[in-house]
This record gives sequence, C-alpha cells and structure tokens, in this order.
Amino acid sequence: MNFEGRDIISAVDFSKEDILQIMQVTADMEKVCRAVHVSSLLSDKLVAVIFWEPSTRTRLSFESAIHRLGAKPLTVADPKSSSAAKGETLVDMAKTVEGYVDCIVLRQSRIGGAKEVAEAVDIPVINGGDGAGQHPTQSLLDLYTIQKEVGTLEGLKVAIVGDLKYARPVHSLCYALSHFSPEYVFCAPDALQLSEEIEADMKKRSIKFYKTDRMDEALQADVFYMTRIQRERFEDPSEYDRLKGTYVLSLEHINRAKKGIVILHPMPRVDEISVDVDTYPKSAYFRQAHNGVFLRMALLALIFGRA
Ligand code: NCD
Repeated sequence: MNFEGRDIISAVDFSKEDILQIMQVTADMEKVCRAVHVSSLLSDKLVAVIFWEPSTRTRLSFESAIHRLGAKPLTVADPKSSSAAKGETLVDMAKTVEGYVDCIVLRQSRIGGAKEVAEAVDIPVINGGDGAGQHPTQSLLDLYTIQKEVGTLEGLKVAIVGDLKYARPVHSLCYALSHFSPEYVFCAPDALQLSEEIEADMKKRSIKFYKTDRMDEALQADVFYMTRIQRERFEDPSEYDRLKGTYVLSLEHINRAKKGIVILHPMPRVDEISVDVDTYPKSAYFRQAHNGVFLRMALLALIFGRA
C-alpha cells in the first residue's frame, strides 16, 4: 500500500498489509533513529503539532520523531494561546495552518474532529486522539510493542482492562489487532464496557471475545492491557468517584498470572498499576512509550514517501 499523502485518522482504515508494512518500517527506524543520514530525511518539511488536550507521550514522541528526521515542528499545545480561544472553528484553523506546513498532527476533544479536518485540507492529517474516539498511532505502537515483547502478533489472548468505554487507545487497538486472530478478554465494570458498535464489529469478523468484570480472569492472557479510568470524559463526577480504583494491578496479581504475561498501558497511569509492578521484567509500559518515537518516525517517513 502506498502511504504517500495519506491521512491517519482511524484504525478502522488499516488493512493487515498496511500494519505489517508500518511494523517493518518502524523496526528499521528503531535501528537507524540516531543515524546521521536519517537526520536530514525530512529536512524540507514542516509539521504542525496542534494539541488541544493534555499530552506528554504523544506530543513529545511526535516532536522527537519530527526532529530526528530533520523536519521542524510548529507546536500549539495550549488552546488558550491560539485563536481557538477567540472562537475559531477547527476547520478554519486547519485551512489556515495548511498554508504554513506540510502535515498536521492534531489532538482535540471532539469525536470525528480529525476526520473533518482531513476532509477540509489537502495536506496529510494525523489524528493524535479525538476525544473518546480513536487514537490510531497509539494502537500501532501498541502492536509494535506486542510484536517485540511476545515475538508474534498472531493468535494471542489479549485482556483489555479498565475503561473500555472512554479510553480511545482501546477503540483503536480492537480494530488494529483484530487482523491477527486474537481472543479478547474485555474486563471492565458494566458502566465502562466496550461500545455496542465495536462489539458488533468483532462479531461480524468472528473475533473470539468475552466480557467480564473480574480482573482475575484477565490475568490468564498473553497480554494484559491496562487503561486509566478517563475522569475527564465523565458528565457526572460522582460516577467517576464510584468507579475510580475499581482495578489496581499489583505484583501479587502477577505472581498468580499466566507465566510470562506482558503488561502494557498507554499511560499515564493514575493508580491502576501499582509501582511495585515496575520491577516485573515483562512490564513493558515504559518501553511501549519509547517505541512511540520509532513508530511516529516510520509514519512520517511513509506519509512523505521517503521510507
Ligand atoms: C492516552 C490518550 O491520551 O488517549 N495517552 C496516550 O496518548 N499515551 C491514554 C490516556 O490518557 O489514558
């Protein structure tokens, strides 16, 4: 598949071939990320990095990737410092910025906002998270991490735990990993289970899955993917207070989990993985965050036709 000029909006858009190609280029980037010849690969490119929701990993790993490839970022990380604060629409902002840069990386809070922008401009748009919608680049770095930590993507039992309703990395992961015949354990309190839409898609594709609210059942998987309960998405703060702290993974759980279980988390964590779990060798969440740089280097190189 030719990625040149393509938007990255939703994991629904990736074919298995797309994903395998991205994984290959990501592995190449990991090898050469500090090499001199790579540091000028995109030296003629400017990339707008517009983040209207909080971010540490996604924004900084994009900026790191942009710098490592010799491109330059134009960053707006605070909506109050842009004309959004004056009431400018997302689309007007994007149609303006389109004249200044060669690609837009965008995080904002409205589901579908990135798609709207992609339709309004001619340069490539990368969705860095649209509210409780999608986070496609996160799911790609998740797959890359699983491939590295487990050795394969095929036929794995993967438990996804926590906030499956609002955590956008979950939505993207479900679509991206489903090309590799997984069996899912969806572990969440009833109020935070997976949407009917994604569940219907799993059924249509004959993906094996079951739902539970018992974390013990999730411990028998090959990969345990923990998520944060997304406080900022709750309309009723008392509902968040009721659900926070539902699951806390500790070292004691790992001792009775499937041997070799890989622990992932898109991060940031609040309290859902206790710090003692960091000592377990297969806790891969910091490595996962680091892989974001290689993955985002790969995507930028592909989008600009220079991979
Ligand atoms: C996630 C996000 O912003 O969706 N973080 C990230 O990009 N690594 C997950 C979260 O905030 O819980």
